[in-house]
Amino acid sequence: MTPRVGVVVPAAGRGERLGGGVPKALRQLAGRPMLVHTVAALTAAELVSQIVVAAPPTLVEVVGRLLGPDVKVLPGGAERVDSVRGALRVLDDDIRVVLVHDAARPLTPPSLVDAVASAVLAGAPAVIPVLPLADTVKEIDADGMVVRTPPRDGLRAVQTPQGFRREVIEAAYARHEDDGVPVTDDAGLAERLGVPVTTVPGADEAFKVTRPADLVFAEAMLARRLAESSRGPAS
Ligand code: C5P
Repeated sequence: MTPRVGVVVPAAGRGERLGGGVPKALRQLAGRPMLVHTVAALTAAELVSQIVVAAPPTLVEVVGRLLGPDVKVLPGGAERVDSVRGALRVLDDDIRVVLVHDAARPLTPPSLVDAVASAVLAGAPAVIPVLPLADTVKEIDADGMVVRTPPRDGLRAVQTPQGFRREVIEAAYARHEDDGVPVTDDAGLAERLGVPVTTVPGADEAFKVTRPADLVFAEAMLARRLAESSRGPAS
């Protein structure tokens, strides 16, 4: 039997860079909260069997009602790592593969979710979706002066879902609980254990909604999807 795949969705961020006065995951996009789009994409993926959402602590009941009985909802923590750690603890015992996916990536194609899950099921301990960079990246010092320009060919932008064998993500979070060294993604925690991290091609649509212009972009993409689906498949 194929091992079961669980997805942990940190959705407890305040979304201060986005503004708007409501937690980012509940910002409306094409008439539905962002988190509803994100969970719909996960539900549409073939390989996902459990979804756990870490919600803003005061909104657990609201989010639970929005997402329905098939999604487990629990209060998130102060930082993203705290939200993920809490959600990992409530996954079903028989989940063997864990994906961690930002609520703030509402247009992620279900095929990307399945591609990451498949790569872990095929034996990779940790898998991340990546895209080449459009912009050149500079390292700068505290005064804003350029220190270095790393060659762009060897750099990638990293998206979610990031996938792990369950024992890998649990060991990574246990290590982080001990030493608290800051990292900006879940694979960064696994790298610190010496675990090899495999990459798969990311998707433009899996971008993270961070700033107000991202909402405009997301609305436009959703409108295009709707227009395409109402036209139906080309005959
Ligand atoms: O702030 P940023 O966009 O990097 O957050 C990435 C994801 O982590 C978002 O989906 C956000 O809701 C989530 N998060 C969380 N708990 C926090 C902070 C962020 O679940 N305390």
